[in-house]
Amino acid sequence: MGYKGYSDFRSDTVTRPTEEMRKAMYEAEVGDDVLGDDPTVKELEELAAETLGKEAALFVPSGTMGNTIAVKLAAGEGKEIILEEHSHIYNYEAGNVSRIAGSLPRVLSSDHGIIPIEKIEENIHKSLRDHIPETKAIALENTHNFWGGVPIPIDYIKQVSEIAKKHNLHFHLDGARVFNAATALKVDVKEITKYFDSVMFCLSKGLSAPVGSVLVGKKDFIREARIVRKYLGGGMRQAGIIAAAGIISIKVMTKRLEEDHIRARRLAEGIADIKDIEIELDRVKTNFVMVKMKNTTSFDFLEKLKNYKVLALPFNDKLVRFVTHNDIDDKDVERAIDAIHSIFKN
Ligand SMILES: Cc1ncc(COP(=O)(O)O)c(C=O)c1O
Repeated sequence: MGYKGYSDFRSDTVTRPTEEMRKAMYEAEVGDDVLGDDPTVKELEELAAETLGKEAALFVPSGTMGNTIAVKLAAGEGKEIILEEHSHIYNYEAGNVSRIAGSLPRVLSSDHGIIPIEKIEENIHKSLRDHIPETKAIALENTHNFWGGVPIPIDYIKQVSEIAKKHNLHFHLDGARVFNAATALKVDVKEITKYFDSVMFCLSKGLSAPVGSVLVGKKDFIREARIVRKYLGGGMRQAGIIAAAGIISIKVMTKRLEEDHIRARRLAEGIADIKDIEIELDRVKTNFVMVKMKNTTSFDFLEKLKNYKVLALPFNDKLVRFVTHNDIDDKDVERAIDAIHSIFKN
């Protein structure tokens, strides 16, 4: 089955491994990584740590597992972590922040992912009495998925990191798409990651690997993370087969994300004049285009769109998300623009 022949804008997670990845996977030297014997996993972890400017890295099966391990170690049982109200960690990770990490999320509202600094500081709790759960960590998300893939600016990250330092909080980044953020902000990724104690980033989204994410941080933190990964069932054996694709994600695929951003922009501009929909053009900065339905529902619109062999994702009843990625070319974008115009033609 599948959607062969469709232009699939549902997510950058639908990307398939490139030819170069498939070849590298076939040729990968492997070993038992639980025993520490897989040279390709080691190479990926060293490359990830170096690229993000951290001491060490851990290859994990998913972004959800990477974030869960980080929250468990950074906040832990009965302790608070400050999260943005629409963050992926709070909303879309099956409740792991409490289910597995045992932590108490303190969820704060924001303007497009930016929680006012004073609000963060007001919500940091010291355990002055037995009954007050202490704040131990804070996490940001960059780019921010719910808020339309917007990059969170560096001066804001810096301000939050100063608060985190002042109050001795662990500062974690859900950087599932941190390379998209770096591309949009026109900086080396280290200029973003240097402010954080730990960062999770995904190989399997815009970077096109079939599986996997990486958690980076200090050596001691990653040593502990390895133990948590194991008891969560994430210890993988000859994982070099998939790590080989991840190496190409970092070396090659991080360099082409601008293309996806240009295509997202073209898509947004190509449909912005349709009066039945609404797009915040100035928020289209990476590979997401959020389209608001004015006179129909997301579901009706997507049913019609499917007839033109174009797929996108309903975010809610009125909001539809289009994501550009390595398996979307200029023709797909033009096909989507034409299809959307045809649907709303009076
Ligand atoms: C911002 C963000 N963080 C974390 C994740 C989790 O990644 P995974 O699907 O690999 O568990 C996602 C996945 O969409 C995401 O968008």
